[in-house]
Amino acid sequence: MTDTQPHVLVMGAGSIGCLVGGLLQAAGARVDFVGRPRMLERLHQHGLHLTDLDGGRRQLPTTALNLHTTVPPRAEPDLVLLCVKSRDTATAAQALGQQLPPGTVVLSLQNGLGNAEQAQQAAPALSMVPGMVPFNVAELGPGHFHRGTSGQLAAGFHPQLERLAQLFDRAGLPLALYTDLRPVQLGKLLLNLNNPVNALSGLPLREQLLHSGFRRQFAALMREALDLMRLDGTEPARVTPLPWDLLIQVLKLPTPLFRLIASRMLRIDPKARSSMADDLTAGRPTEIDALSGEIVRLATRLGHAAPLNTAMVARIQALQARHTRSTA
Ligand SMILES: NC(=O)c1ccc[n+]([C@@H]2O[C@H](COP(=O)([O-])OP(=O)(O)OC[C@H]3O[C@@H](n4cnc5c(N)ncnc54)[C@H](OP(=O)(O)O)[C@@H]3O)[C@@H](O)[C@H]2O)c1
Repeated sequence: MTDTQPHVLVMGAGSIGCLVGGLLQAAGARVDFVGRPRMLERLHQHGLHLTDLDGGRRQLPTTALNLHTTVPPRAEPDLVLLCVKSRDTATAAQALGQQLPPGTVVLSLQNGLGNAEQAQQAAPALSMVPGMVPFNVAELGPGHFHRGTSGQLAAGFHPQLERLAQLFDRAGLPLALYTDLRPVQLGKLLLNLNNPVNALSGLPLREQLLHSGFRRQFAALMREALDLMRLDGTEPARVTPLPWDLLIQVLKLPTPLFRLIASRMLRIDPKARSSMADDLTAGRPTEIDALSGEIVRLATRLGHAAPLNTAMVARIQALQARHTRSTA
C-alpha cells in the first residue's frame, strides 16, 4: 500500500459499491469501479452524487471516476470490495481471481452467510474476508445513491483492514473488526428477513414498519429463525439496540406503542425500500435464497421445519417466475 493513496477496487458498481466506493474516494482513496455498461453510462453522464439521512452530501464529478466494464489488467489494489448480489458472487470472484495478484484482500459487502466462502472457492488465491453492511442504500436517480438508515460497517479481522481503518474513518464509515463475524452475520440475516415482507408490501420500509400486520409477519419469520439458530448452538450478535427476544415482542405491539418505543428503529428515510423490493419491481432475480433460503437449509440440517420461511421463499420465487414468464 502506498503511504499516500490507498487503491480500492469496487467489484459490482451498484448501490453499495457506488456509495462505499464513492465515500472512500471522497476520503482520499484511488477507486476503480467495475460495473455493467448500463450503470457505467449513468455514472459517465451524471457523476456520483452521494447523500444520507443525516444530511451528508458528496459530489464526485464524472471526470474523477475510474469506470471499467471488466477488472483492469495489472491492477494491484490494496483492497477489493465485492458488492455484487449473491447470485453473481462466483462469476465475479472468478473474474477477480484471473486478474489480481495472489493474496489480494477482497471484502465481501454482501448480505447472507456464505458469500465470502463461495468467493474463496471461486478464487482460491485471493484472500476473502466477510463483511456486513447494516444500512440501506438506494439509487434515487441516475448516479444518486442515498443511505437511508444508519449503523456501523463490520468485517472479519484482517491486518490489511486494520491498516485501512483510518481511510474508512475519514469516509464516515468506521469499520468494526471481529475475529468471528458469523454471529454478526446471523444478526443481520435475522433483520434481512424483513426484506421479503417489505418487497411484498409494496411500501417504503418506514411505512411498512408502521403496519402492525407486516410487523407481526416480520416478527414471526424472525422468531422461527432465531429458535433454529439457538437450536444450532449459535446466538446471533445484537445488531439493534434491543435484545432479539425483546425486539420480537416490540414488533408485535400496537402501532402507537411501537412508534413510541421503537423510535430509533423508525429513523429511516421515508423513501427507503429494501433492495429485494427494487429487484422484484425491476423483474430481476432476488436474494431470497441467500436470506429465508438460508433458514430453510438450517432447519433441514437440524431435522426440523421452517414453515414460515419456506412459504416466503415459495411466494417470492413464484413472483419471480411469473415475471420471467411475462417477459419471455
Ligand atoms: N442496497 C442495500 O441497501 C444493501 C444493504 C446491505 C447489504 N446489501 C447487500 O449488498 C450486496 C449488493 O447489493 P446492491 O443493492 O448494491 O446490489 P446492486 O445495486 O444490484 O449492485 C450490484 C451491481 O453489480 C453488477 N454486477 C454483477 N455482476 C457483475 C460483474 N461480474 N461485473 C461487474 N458488475 C457486476 C450488477 O449488475 P446487474 O444489475 O446486471 O446484475 C449490479 O449493477 C447484496 O448482497 C445486498 O444484499 C445491500
